[in-house]
Amino acid sequence: MVDSVYRTRSLGVAAVGLPDQYADGKAAKVWQLYIGDTRSRTDEYKSWVLSLLRKHGCQRVLDVACGTGVDSIMLVEEGFKLVSVDASDKMLKYALKARWDRRKEAAFDQWEIEEANWLTLPDDVQKPGDGFDAVICLGNSFAHLPDFKGDQSDIKLALTNIASMVKPGGILIIDHRNYDYILKTGKAPQGKNIYYKSDLTQDISTSVLWVNSKPHMITLDYTVQVPKQKGAEETPELSKFRLSYYPHQLDNFKELLREAFRGKCEQSVFGDFKSYDPSTDQAPCYFIHVVKKTA
Ligand SMILES: C[S@@+](CC[C@H](N)C(=O)[O-])C[C@H]1O[C@@H](n2cnc3c(N)ncnc32)[C@H](O)[C@@H]1O
Repeated sequence: MVDSVYRTRSLGVAAVGLPDQYADGKAAKVWQLYIGDTRSRTDEYKSWVLSLLRKHGCQRVLDVACGTGVDSIMLVEEGFKLVSVDASDKMLKYALKARWDRRKEAAFDQWEIEEANWLTLPDDVQKPGDGFDAVICLGNSFAHLPDFKGDQSDIKLALTNIASMVKPGGILIIDHRNYDYILKTGKAPQGKNIYYKSDLTQDISTSVLWVNSKPHMITLDYTVQVPKQKGAEETPELSKFRLSYYPHQLDNFKELLREAFRGKCEQSVFGDFKSYDPSTDQAPCYFIHVVKKTA
């Protein structure tokens, strides 16, 4: 526990029967390197998300997968009022440290960080009034939730909980990698990461696990070149970490979102921040869903 703003009503990922893929602290550390300088997001991502939030008049934002805090920090700096949650204390440690280091800035002093799990979100997070103006779940985070029962019930519960945090008239912004493409070709679409400006040499190798002829899990093995410490003699170290994801396919995910909002929503899909047209042969790296709650 780094500071007093850290409160937990959640029992964490392990307590709800899910593995915290960041539990050994190694993936969290290398993730910080993978995403690069937290102050330098790609301009395209930053201007897209900021203009979307401003267009919808959003002020209070809930980041339900804040991880090390990268999106939240950017939004706090841009004047939004953030509540940032994550199920992994190893990831939150970095967000808490960033907040602590900048606690003298009023915006950072007001930044709330808590441990919370999507499966128990209404118990873990206090909803302000009828909800947040916007809820974000970005960086391919939602795909971390596995479908252990094989019926998508955990996924549906998590999405319903996340949708319940959005106020009527508010928006949810949630993304996933282009798993349709990965399942079709066995590899991730080529191109620079749309979110992070990391310049470390990286390789991401992909494996797909099929169960009963259905894609069940995708494993990405990340290789990141860890820069050598100032003055150190040794050559930079190659660090590897593995994350597993549930491969959400576009049409199914759109339907799951519609159900989570009980049909009371307007949905749009973006491919790498551009309006997505399925009739073209675009192969974006990420699909980003924007769902506006209409009632
Ligand atoms: C890939 S990281 C992305 C974090 C951040 N959005 C970014 O772009 O750097 C995914 C995050 O989702 C969190 N997560 C996974 N399952 C979760 C769950 N069931 N409830 C809450 N957070 C979860 C992980 O702990 C991790 O910090």
